[in-house]
Amino acid sequence: MYRLIHLFRTSIGRKLMMALTGLILLLFIVGHLAGNMTIFVGAPILNSYAHWLQHSVMLWPFRIVMLLVVGLHIVMGIELARENRHSASNGSRFPSWFTRHILNHHMLWSGLAVLLFILFHVAHLTLGVGADASFYQLDSNQMMDVYLRVVEGFLNPWISLSYVVLLLLVGLHLLQVVRGLFQTLGFYHENYQQLLDRLAWGVSGGITAGFLSIPVAVWVGAV
Ligand code: HEM
Repeated sequence: MYRLIHLFRTSIGRKLMMALTGLILLLFIVGHLAGNMTIFVGAPILNSYAHWLQHSVMLWPFRIVMLLVVGLHIVMGIELARENRHSASNGSRFPSWFTRHILNHHMLWSGLAVLLFILFHVAHLTLGVGADASFYQLDSNQMMDVYLRVVEGFLNPWISLSYVVLLLLVGLHLLQVVRGLFQTLGFYHENYQQLLDRLAWGVSGGITAGFLSIPVAVWVGAV
C-alpha cells in the first residue's frame, strides 16, 4: 500500500494513473456511445436500454467507482499540468504546431470543459433540471421515455448549441487522452509516430462524430 502511495507521488506514477483513469473513462464513453446509438433503432430499444441501466443493482457501485476515477483523473491532471507548465512545449513527441501550442497548453481547459459538459448533461438528461412534466412521461411499455427527453432537448436551439460546443471540446480532450495513453504505454516509435497520431485522431474524431450525429439526426427529423 505504502509503495502504491509512493508510486503516485512520482511523476511516472502520476502519468500511469492518468493513463489508467483515462482508459477507463474512454471505455465508459465508447460504451455510452454504443448505448446511445440505439436511438437510431427506435424509441423502445433506447428506452429499454435506459430502463435496464436505471434498475441495475450495479448502478450505484458503478457510479461511485466512476466518480472516484474522474476525481483521480482530475487531481493527477492538475498535478501533471503544474509539473509540465514549463516543459510542455519541449517535451512533446508529437511534432505538429497544433499539438505543441493548442493541445498541450489547453489540456487542462478542455478537461474542465468535459467536467462542465458532464454537469450540464446530467442536469439536463438525468435530473431534468428546469424540465416540464413531459420529462417524466412513460412510453407505451410503462418505461421512462428517455427517447422523448433526448429529442425534446435537441429541439431546443440553446441546448443543442451548448451540446455541440461542449462535445467538440470533449473531442479535443479525448484526442489528447488517446495520445497520452499511447505515449505512457510506450507505443511510440519514430516509424509509427504518424500512424499512431492518425489513429488518435480517428478514435477521438469517430467518437465525437458519433455523439454529434444524435443532435444532427434530431434537427433533420431522422429520429
Ligand atoms: C449527444 C450526446 C449524448 C447523449 C444523447 C447522451 C444521452 C444520455 C442519456 C439519455 C442519459 C441518461 C440515462 C438515464 O438516466 O437513463 C445520459 C447520462 C449520462 N451521460 Fe450521456 N449522452 C451523450 C453524451 C455523453 C458524453 C460525451 C459523456 C461523457 C463525457 C456522457 C456522460 C454521461 C454521464 C456521466 C451520465 C450519467 C450516468 C448516470 O446517471 O449515472 N454523455 N446520457
